[in-house]
Amino acid sequence: MGKNREQADHYTKKAKKEGYPARSVYKLEEIQQKFHMIKPGDKVLDIGAAPGSWTLYTHRKLIKGTGSIVSVDLKPLELNPLPPTVTPLIGDAFSEENLKVMTELGPYDCIISDAAPATTGIRSVDTMKSQGLAESVVYVAQSQLKTHGNLVIKIFQGGGEQEVIKNMRTIFAKVKPLKPKACRNESFELFLVGLDKLES
Ligand SMILES: C[S@@+](CC[C@H](N)C(=O)[O-])C[C@H]1O[C@@H](n2cnc3c(N)ncnc32)[C@H](O)[C@@H]1O
Repeated sequence: MGKNREQADHYTKKAKKEGYPARSVYKLEEIQQKFHMIKPGDKVLDIGAAPGSWTLYTHRKLIKGTGSIVSVDLKPLELNPLPPTVTPLIGDAFSEENLKVMTELGPYDCIISDAAPATTGIRSVDTMKSQGLAESVVYVAQSQLKTHGNLVIKIFQGGGEQEVIKNMRTIFAKVKPLKPKACRNESFELFLVGLDKLES
């Protein structure tokens, strides 16, 4: 087994043992350990939340059962029981209906998004779709994130990540790109962290 495969297997087994539905939880763990975006009592919006590892980790370890999480995805969360801090929304995060509910439940201290498009295998198409999602999340953050709030978004590298970073720099005091260790080596995903939203 190659080193990368072994590592992937390690994270999958660890997630299962710790009760998380997906190994992606360790990406959020690493980002949080580096940037401390979320604290107990925060109101968090998780966009592209299913099956629910980021939501569960945020509930258990970051807001520690206090605060609240709005978790939106095209698919339902696979969390049973659903943590008491979580309000699930099903459907396109950027539909008029979901944007309205997300606005009613906001504003948020932190917005996290691991949203990814259904991939086609054609890199230029996939990166373009990922950029579209990332731009939509930044757009939501502009109106739904509190001043001094933080943002984490995923974007596929090789598309317009420089453009997204440039836009984020007009909204946040600091913008940092990060590729967590838990990402598979062959993966071209990158996370962009916006810290300390500026007063608008
Ligand atoms: C990699 S998964 C997220 C995994 C999640 N962070 C976890 O830890 O369980 C990406 C998710 O983005 C969702 N997604 C993609 N486009 C979306 C959209 N427009 N609105 C809501 N969710 C979307 C997909 O349905 C998919 O469940």
